[in-house]
Amino acid sequence: MSPSLRTQVGIVGAGPAGLMLGQLLHLYGIDSVILEKRSRQYVVERVRAGVLEQGTVDLMHEVGVGERLAREGLRHDGIYLAFGGTRHRIDMAELTGGRAITIYGQNEVVHDLIEARLTTGRPLHFDVDDVSVHDLDSRSPSIRFRKDGVEHEIACDVIAGCDGFHGITRAAIPAARLRLYERTYPYGWLGILAEAPPSSDELVYSLHDSGFALFSMRSPQVTRLYLQCAPDEDVSRWSDDRIWAELRTRLATDDGWRPNEGPIFQKGVTGMRSFVVEPMRFERLFLAGDAAHIVPPTGAKGLNLAMADVYRLATALAEFYRSGREHLMDVYSERALQRTWRAQHFSWWMTSMLHRSDSDNAFDHRRQLAELEYLVSSRAAMTSLAESYTGTPFDA
Ligand code: FAD
Ligand code: PHB
Repeated sequence: MSPSLRTQVGIVGAGPAGLMLGQLLHLYGIDSVILEKRSRQYVVERVRAGVLEQGTVDLMHEVGVGERLAREGLRHDGIYLAFGGTRHRIDMAELTGGRAITIYGQNEVVHDLIEARLTTGRPLHFDVDDVSVHDLDSRSPSIRFRKDGVEHEIACDVIAGCDGFHGITRAAIPAARLRLYERTYPYGWLGILAEAPPSSDELVYSLHDSGFALFSMRSPQVTRLYLQCAPDEDVSRWSDDRIWAELRTRLATDDGWRPNEGPIFQKGVTGMRSFVVEPMRFERLFLAGDAAHIVPPTGAKGLNLAMADVYRLATALAEFYRSGREHLMDVYSERALQRTWRAQHFSWWMTSMLHRSDSDNAFDHRRQLAELEYLVSSRAAMTSLAESYTGTPFDA
């Protein structure tokens, strides 16, 4: 074992949550160590979310990592809902007094945050093994890990569990102290990236007899597309031709619109789950992001919730180090869960409205279409969607 190390906040996980927390703490003058089990390349290349709420965009600017986002991010004032052969535009900015979303890949967010971390000179260790957390109910919890075959231990004041759904921090909390809420969905998403200029300026969420499809993008040259599939779908059964044929069937509308096609350079299947753990804290361990909650991707909320959590957590820790007061740490879980459950409801609602399930019958499908018809014809209903989709400002 190497000599013991010390830090103020030990952060497990270098996804968006862990990296943004490290940056916020740095700006408050608080010391942290970030530990990540994967390589830097893996973390930066992992293709995931693409939709940033205004709160996330503002936070990126506030912490000094907004320069490339301002240049390359694509601001969208609206989205389309497509069904029955027609695309209907929801003008989110007009309905919400100017709120919009920005398309900027999660991997770009992670890239920018890693660059910022390296500039601070504060520790960020990739490729660490056997991470474990200890003495969580003491004033000096610790993290043990192995790096290049050498064992290390870091003494901390507080540990932040930012290690995603499959991480180790949530599992270190005694089961009797947690309550889990969960729903898995009987479908998944097959996602692709294609070298094709986006054929629409805004996202298209489509419900078709054959199931859900989503048209999105990453840049003026790259289209991102998703198809509803089985949760355990074997990607190798989907040739490029089969994918394009199915996307055309589900997305093409009667006005002649369809996605542009081009070489597919990335394919993957994601399962869909709603999950929440309560509380998001055990003694000196605080959970943030996917470690505490998962939403199905239809509402585009996961990354944004992770950012909202760490903004709140950083503010609480700043108060603690400034004044010794633990009030904001004490209310962290309750307040973060309020936003989480709001997003859970929205994500479940979007998912149920837009996907077809084998257990659904003809009635269920007609009911979905009736709901969509109402949604695109009622200003009140569209405003509700726009408010939730663009997200409320982050609060501490
Ligand atoms: P993660 O990104 O999972 O990061 C956790 C990190 O911890 C990982 O790097 C992991 O390697 C590391 N780790 C795990 N275990 C350990 C360990 N034992 N020790 C050290 N490190 C460990 N969200 C949106 O807001 N908008 C979208 O448009 C959107 N689209 C999505 C599309 C898809 C296909 C998917 C899969 C997700 C999407 N999401 C979206 C969700 C979003 O990607 C996640 O919510 C987000 O990654 C959560 O960030 P996080 O930092 O909490 O967790
Ligand atoms: C994406 O571009 O990856 C994306 C967009 C909207 C979603 C989910 C994912 O709801």
